[in-house]
Amino acid sequence: MGPSGSGKSSLLHLLSGLDTPSGGEVELGGARLKSLSDEARTLARREQVGYVFQFFHLLPNFTVRENIGLPLAIRGENPERSHARIDALLERLGLAHKADSFPHELSGGEMQRTSIARALIGGQPLLLCDEPTGNLSQKAGAEVMALLRECVDKEGRSVLLVTHNPRDAAWADRVLFLVDGLIDERVQLSGPHSDPAPIHKALGSLGI
Ligand SMILES: Nc1ncnc2c1ncn2[C@@H]1O[C@H](COP(=O)(O)OP(=O)(O)O)[C@@H](O)[C@H]1O
Ligand SMILES: [Mg+2]
Repeated sequence: MGPSGSGKSSLLHLLSGLDTPSGGEVELGGARLKSLSDEARTLARREQVGYVFQFFHLLPNFTVRENIGLPLAIRGENPERSHARIDALLERLGLAHKADSFPHELSGGEMQRTSIARALIGGQPLLLCDEPTGNLSQKAGAEVMALLRECVDKEGRSVLLVTHNPRDAAWADRVLFLVDGLIDERVQLSGPHSDPAPIHKALGSLGI
């Protein structure tokens, strides 16, 4: 968590190798990103990281099923062979009845669940989520958070999530606060909590 412009999105870009730091080092899955070629860095990102954005970034002319299958298509996998995996995810994320719909035919929650499915399909161990509930109703946001929590608890993935919403942050094992590009060491919370009050309090004490 942190105020606008504190560097939350920049941090995610750096961690995934989308951006290169002017100082310091990023290691992703044991690989030092700085030492990799552009191509190797792209491959490392594809293998290690799934990305979920506030505005979904779905391709408008692709169906839900095609959007979810995109990372596999980019890897050159045979679509026939990925069919069963996509079906299983559609089922799990409550999107089976929308498989052949286009993004403009979906609710915000359905669009975000589609983008989460796209982030999960490749089996990447790390999910980076940049304000994934920022454009959703409270109910759809809570569904998305429950889903992300399940990815951690049931699949052992790691989720690093940026949010403005203390209710979202309450789902996390650890809450860190970023101020002016630095993690503020004064306040770190561990969770998950059923109550967002400590997070409200921490934000208040940091003047956020
Ligand atoms: N590649 C970059 N190099 C240097 N500064 C950047 C770069 N990308 C973003 N910034 C700056 O970093 C600051 C933090 O931006 P951002 O990460 O988008 O914040 P947040 O997501 O917390 O709102 C902004 O002032 C932005 O202009
Ligand atoms: Mg941002």
